[in-house]
Amino acid sequence: MRTVTVGLGDRAYPIHIGEGLLARAELFLPHLPHRRISVVTNTTVASLYLEKFSAMLRGAGVEIVPVVLPDGEEHKNWQTLNSIFDALLSNRCERKSTIIALGGGVVGDLAGFAAASYQRGVPLIQVPTTLLAQVDSSVGGKTAINHPMGKNMIGAFYQPRMVLADTAMLDTLPTREFAAGLAEVIKYGLIMDLPFLGWLEANMDNLNRREPAALAYAVTRSCENKAAVVAADERESGERALLNLGHTFGHAIEAGLGFGTWLHGEAVAAGTVLAARLSERAGLLTASDVQRIARLFVRAGLPVEAPSLGQDRYLELMGHDKKVENGRLRLVLLKSLGKAFMTSDFDLRDLREVLGGAAAHA
Ligand code: NAD
Ligand code: GLY
Repeated sequence: MRTVTVGLGDRAYPIHIGEGLLARAELFLPHLPHRRISVVTNTTVASLYLEKFSAMLRGAGVEIVPVVLPDGEEHKNWQTLNSIFDALLSNRCERKSTIIALGGGVVGDLAGFAAASYQRGVPLIQVPTTLLAQVDSSVGGKTAINHPMGKNMIGAFYQPRMVLADTAMLDTLPTREFAAGLAEVIKYGLIMDLPFLGWLEANMDNLNRREPAALAYAVTRSCENKAAVVAADERESGERALLNLGHTFGHAIEAGLGFGTWLHGEAVAAGTVLAARLSERAGLLTASDVQRIARLFVRAGLPVEAPSLGQDRYLELMGHDKKVENGRLRLVLLKSLGKAFMTSDFDLRDLREVLGGAAAHA
């Protein structure tokens, strides 16, 4: 087992990473001040893991309130959140009753927001079960639900007491979901960790085979990078926004095609290539840097050509981004491989040309 610490003073917490950790009661027990806890999950993850996990905790004397949500981003809403509160209240969960989020980013964001607000805050443990959740969403305390007018628009910063990433749970993940998680792994290399980018290039085949040692390293290194960013800028007043490389373009792709058509990670991969092309036009990256980025995404099974939505539609959709400040679009670009920065100082004609070229490079 490897452990990474998120250094947030008296709210610091461990991220435990390794194969088979879900079976280890001793890792959970110190974070369960009340013996009645709830496990929030969804129908898909419940059918694979809930029974065994609950039996293990019951064997250690813990009383479980299972809360099984419908699966899917379309359920990340107020109604589903309220169904968690219904279950907690009707089962008399108290202020010390820990919530364990067992699932991908959707379950983690919903259960995290429930933990932030139920009785003004109860202990939270994140057990991420997708690659995306293990390397990104379970770490750092962002919790949210969607509003009909925008994704992740209602939420809170609320840090868990522990994150437990059992890499063996990734074995059951569909290939497309696994690849989508790799987009966020590659992101860390691009924004802040050039040696990791090199490691990913050398090990992408092992990762695609879900080779345990490679997976454990990729999750650990990703979490180390994310933990460092979160410790430095918990509430995203600066550096944390760099984690959104490719996301402004990516969100426009997701929204433009209709949410759910492309997975988030797929849109981020193609969006990152657009950000890289804009960085090239700004004289920061070379054409071979951009090719190197695209090649790695392709090897991870991800798309690198953004769909052709039209420049105006792209710009309109990108204008809804949370990073827009005083009406000005800000983008994360690359200064070089391994170094990202945020800027609103880019040439709009370059941006239009990059967007106009979407799907024309294929
Ligand atoms: P997801 O939670 O929808 O999971 C993807 C699919 O995999 C689902 O069908 C799920 O049921 C299934 N699944 C989960 N674990 C499995 C397993 N071990 N085996 C088989 N199937 C499994 O999607 P995701 O990609 O994990 O998360 C996306 C969400 O995360 C979005 O809502 C996004 O907004 C959010 N997010 C949050 C943050 C954050 O910092 N809080 C960061 C990035 C993304
Ligand atoms: N996923 C971006 C962040 O946690 O800040």
